[in-house]
Parts: sequence; structure tokens; C-alpha cells
Amino acid sequence: MRKKIVAGNWKMNKSFQEAEELISVIAEELDEKELDCDVVVCPPAVYLEMISDYAEESGLSVAAQNVSAHDNGAYTGEISAYMLNSMNIEYSIVGHSERRTYFNETNADLAKKVDMLLENNMKPIFCIGELLDQREENVHFDIVKQQMEEGLFHLNEDEFSNVVVAYEPVWAIGTGVVATPEQAQEMHNYIRLLISEKYTNEIADQTTILYGGSCNAQNAATLFANEDVDGGLIGGASLKPDDFVKIVMSF
Ligand code: PGA
Repeated sequence: MRKKIVAGNWKMNKSFQEAEELISVIAEELDEKELDCDVVVCPPAVYLEMISDYAEESGLSVAAQNVSAHDNGAYTGEISAYMLNSMNIEYSIVGHSERRTYFNETNADLAKKVDMLLENNMKPIFCIGELLDQREENVHFDIVKQQMEEGLFHLNEDEFSNVVVAYEPVWAIGTGVVATPEQAQEMHNYIRLLISEKYTNEIADQTTILYGGSCNAQNAATLFANEDVDGGLIGGASLKPDDFVKIVMSF
């Protein structure tokens, strides 16, 4: 059985005190529940240490939102996978559409970030997904294929088995326009097919593929009910503890 994951991407939100309040409520609420999935919290980098302390106590995992493509040295402002790993951070998001769009990160840059994470025993949550006009032009499958090929398919089987894929159609991120369960299933199934063609059926079967984009407490269960949707990468709704917990309980 492949791993199911619900990950909360807090993006650039919350003061230190607000972040502490948020994680303590989430940890407390989840503590009383039996979970059918792993829960990953992705706070801003400056809060990673504080969040890790809470997470460790309550069995949650922690992800950075970004990582440097370089290993160490004179890169002011950057945070390396080596540093994150030394703080026992398990995952990092790579290639979120906001990084691709606002910080011009290319698939080639992202491939380097993936390598850095794997070299430092961390797991990438690798984001892919098409823009609205690409879907309207019916090239969304080609875009996703290219992102998989250029960002991930240089990895060998062993390396790839540490990757989590997150399909996030850009038109659904933060817009309130969620992909239909059929659209999500269709693309997730396609991504799994790409993985089985590149690697093996077994690896494809074991790969966790998350959906992201306006996933919330109301629609999570219908999305997660699809065979190839193994959980979600949640933005806005992860900032509301009750909603986030409901999403976690949607399997
Ligand atoms: P959203 O963001 O849930 O606010 O649409 C998802 C994401 O960006 O990962």
C-alpha cells in the first residue's frame, strides 16, 4: 500500500506566535484521532525548528517550502538541504508554482534541488501542474510530462522511490476553483502511467501523488476517494486548524 499524505503548505503566513498557536491546535486535535494518512506541516523556514519540536511529540512530519539548488557556501539568504537534514526535516516542497512563476525556477533548477535533497537523505514533494491557458489549449498532459521528465526522470529507481509528486493545476491554486474529481483522477492516472513507463509498474504503484489547488474541508473526501489521488497539498485551508483536521480525516 502506498503512503497517503496530507500536507499543509502555510506559505508566507503567520507570526511566530500565530504559528505556534496553529501547530499546537492541530497537534492537539490530531492527537485524539486515529489517522489513515501521514500529516506533513510545511511552515515558513524561520519556524521550522519550533514546528519540529511540536511535530516530534505528536508524530507529524515537517517539510521546508523550498531548498537551495547549491550545497553550501556563499549564497546569502539560501538554505541548503544539508542544513535542513541536520535539523531532522524530512521533506521539502520543490517547484511550487509560486516559485516557478515569481522566482523563475525552471525544471533544470528544480532537478538540482531534487538532487540536493536526495543526497542529504531528504524527500522532495515535487510540484507539477499546468496553467489555465495550457489546459484550454489541451496541452496540459504535455506540460506535466515535460515537468516530470525534466525535473525527476534523471533519477534512478532507488532515488525516485523517495519522491512524492504533487499535481497542482495552477488555475486551481488559491482561486477557489478546484479540479473536478474526474480531472484530478485523469491526471493522476496519467502521471502514474508516466512513472510506470519510465521505471516499473511497482514503482508507479508505490508513488504517492497528491492533489493541490483549492482543496478544502468540503471537497477533500471526494477528491481523495479517487484511486490515484493519495492525499493533498493544502494551502489556504491548512491555516484553519479545524478545516485542516477535517481534511486529514477525509480518507
Ligand atoms: P490552495 O494552495 O490550497 O490555497 O489552493 C495549494 C498550494 O498552493 O499548495
